[in-house]
Amino acid sequence: MSDLTPMLGPAPVDAPTFRRLMGRWATGVSVVTAREFDVDAGLTVNAFLSVSLAPPSVLISLARDADTTPLIERSGQFAVSVLASSQRALSERFARTAPPAEKFRDLGFHRGPNGLALLDGALAAVECRVVSHTPAYDHLLLLGEIVYQELGTDGLPLVFFRSGYGEPLGAEAVRLPRPP
Ligand SMILES: Cc1cc2nc3c(=O)[nH]c(=O)nc-3n(C[C@H](O)[C@H](O)[C@H](O)COP(=O)(O)O)c2cc1C
Repeated sequence: MSDLTPMLGPAPVDAPTFRRLMGRWATGVSVVTAREFDVDAGLTVNAFLSVSLAPPSVLISLARDADTTPLIERSGQFAVSVLASSQRALSERFARTAPPAEKFRDLGFHRGPNGLALLDGALAAVECRVVSHTPAYDHLLLLGEIVYQELGTDGLPLVFFRSGYGEPLGAEAVRLPRPP
């Protein structure tokens, strides 16, 4: 048996450490929006990744108990707006548990051709048709095919790292949150 053979048995994977570990995975920040019966809903999401170029598709991972999740399941579509560094307040607004009307009050947005809300000032936005939803523990993995895309402001991104927001210092540098 080589020294590199992993030990079998229960792994010492405690949730707080895992949370800190994933906090070392720097991401951008997006707002996912949905619409059903003329009601807009949305939440802040950093579990967002591109899946394939042909066809262009993305994946988001949403908590099953988030209010927006069932709305996306029922309507079969969602939009993603990629936040700029100046849009931290929007990330905080959409990360709150609040009635949709409150989240969208006085919000600057426009509608994509499929009727979904796309945030003004975002770096980029897409509208997606849900092609599969896969339960994953307390989350739902939603695969979406892009049906509309737009490039917005050509600015710096909002960054999330170590459970905090990064602050761009220019095109080449980002000040990141320090370890606790
Ligand atoms: C930076 C950041 C990233 C987040 N990423 C996700 C995510 O990827 N998936 C998710 O389900 N919730 C995520 N959340 C939490 C939701 O935004 C939050 O639970 C929200 O209140 C859900 O809103 P809703 O219940 O109105 O849909 C994130 C929050 C923050 C601050």
